[in-house]
Amino acid sequence: MKILYASSEAYPFAMSGGLADVAGALPKALRRRFVGCRVVMPLYSSVPEELRAEMKFITSITVPVAWRRQYCGIFEARYDGVVYYLLDNLYYFKRDGLYGHYDDAERFAFFSRAVLEIIPYIDYTPDIIHCNDWQTAMTPVYLDRFYKYNPLYKNIKIVYTIHNIQYQGKYGYELISDVLGLDEKDKGLVEYDGCVNLMKAAIQCSDKITTVSPTYAKEILTPYYSHGLNCILENFKFKLCGIVNGIDTVVYDPETDPAVFKNYSAADPSGKAVNKAELQKYMNLPQRAEVPVFGIVSRLVGHKGFDLVKCVFEDMLKADLQVVILGSGDWEFETFFYEMSKKYPDKVGFKLGFIPDLARKIYAGADIFLMPSKSEPCGLAQMIALRYGTIPIVRKTGGLADTIIDIEKENGNGFVFENYNAHEMLETIWRAFGKYGDKAAWTNMVENALSIDNSWNVSAGEYIKLYKEVVL
Ligand code: GLC
Repeated sequence: MKILYASSEAYPFAMSGGLADVAGALPKALRRRFVGCRVVMPLYSSVPEELRAEMKFITSITVPVAWRRQYCGIFEARYDGVVYYLLDNLYYFKRDGLYGHYDDAERFAFFSRAVLEIIPYIDYTPDIIHCNDWQTAMTPVYLDRFYKYNPLYKNIKIVYTIHNIQYQGKYGYELISDVLGLDEKDKGLVEYDGCVNLMKAAIQCSDKITTVSPTYAKEILTPYYSHGLNCILENFKFKLCGIVNGIDTVVYDPETDPAVFKNYSAADPSGKAVNKAELQKYMNLPQRAEVPVFGIVSRLVGHKGFDLVKCVFEDMLKADLQVVILGSGDWEFETFFYEMSKKYPDKVGFKLGFIPDLARKIYAGADIFLMPSKSEPCGLAQMIALRYGTIPIVRKTGGLADTIIDIEKENGNGFVFENYNAHEMLETIWRAFGKYGDKAAWTNMVENALSIDNSWNVSAGEYIKLYKEVVL
């Protein structure tokens, strides 16, 4: 079986969030099970020089973007045994940041179409193209409308994964003919609720729809979580399922991670204390072994639960504890944490930005990891935290509900609260604080966390089962 994994980002070439982790890890895990999987992604100008140096130029073609044809250079790279196709077009991809440009719809319509156009040139005809999020949502539409009558394409199936239903690719109707290149008769595919909605079109045209946890697959059928798409999903729920993500346990390994201050493992966790002391120093906090350090590594946006944190943060700080925060996002939360770090310099350390190296220092150096999301399709940080022996506090939603079990229950591995309520979260913080005071119990929890297996092993198997269903 041959899979072509189409993603707008993939570790280590370009990353802005969890999708890159998944696109970096799942293909490797599939290959280990003898399922061919290659990745196709844009060649952004931010792709690191040392990775570019390894790329091989295959050829250049032109790709239709509505009534124009645009240059597309096809480059091939190999990383960790996986073949990557990086698609070059300076006009679209020589930009600061991966997304957020005025012409994102056109940039990713180009990419979605290029994914199909390159197939005759790469000597790899996939059985399945696995698309992800709104950026590759047009691939199933183009396949359905323009390519499936061509014998080379006629057996290709599409699996479409929703990593976050909040970002659907919504635009004005004026895009339909000039940017997306769809005829009048096809415009119903992309129209939804008064605008163009790319994710809606992909849901309609794909053979299977997956999302990144079983709980989220149920949640997005309800109005509270679906950001308007529940009615469409309801119609297509026969092809919807949820498969929880794993984490790359080689990339995230406290025993070998070069970013942590001192390596440690389940067999010898003593290095964790060193990481805590060094993290406190790094964040200009007093080096006190006895106080629990709460870590936050996140985009600082509403759906990650920061309105709850903001609401009770100063109550939380009345206790003898420290909080270390790394993230960027909404101005409201960035300024809030900045102000808190100035007001409570002995208790709060804040760094603004997306800094993978510091993120790992926090995973390793914190005792408790706070992730009170309002919605969380899967969430990787809670699993990475566990891998580094840091105990998560989560709200019971999406993938958090599927990966974290409250310590009061059988096989418990963290602290879970149910309702999106600041004081319910605070109560759970006190529960964790109390437990931290019981040294023996806490050591047990940390040791247990360090030995949990959240690798891709199980989930890759589930994807293979799904792929088989699709091609048979
Ligand atoms: C998105 C989701 C996150 C998920 C990730 C990878 O970033 O918000 O919950 O873990 O995609 O699937």
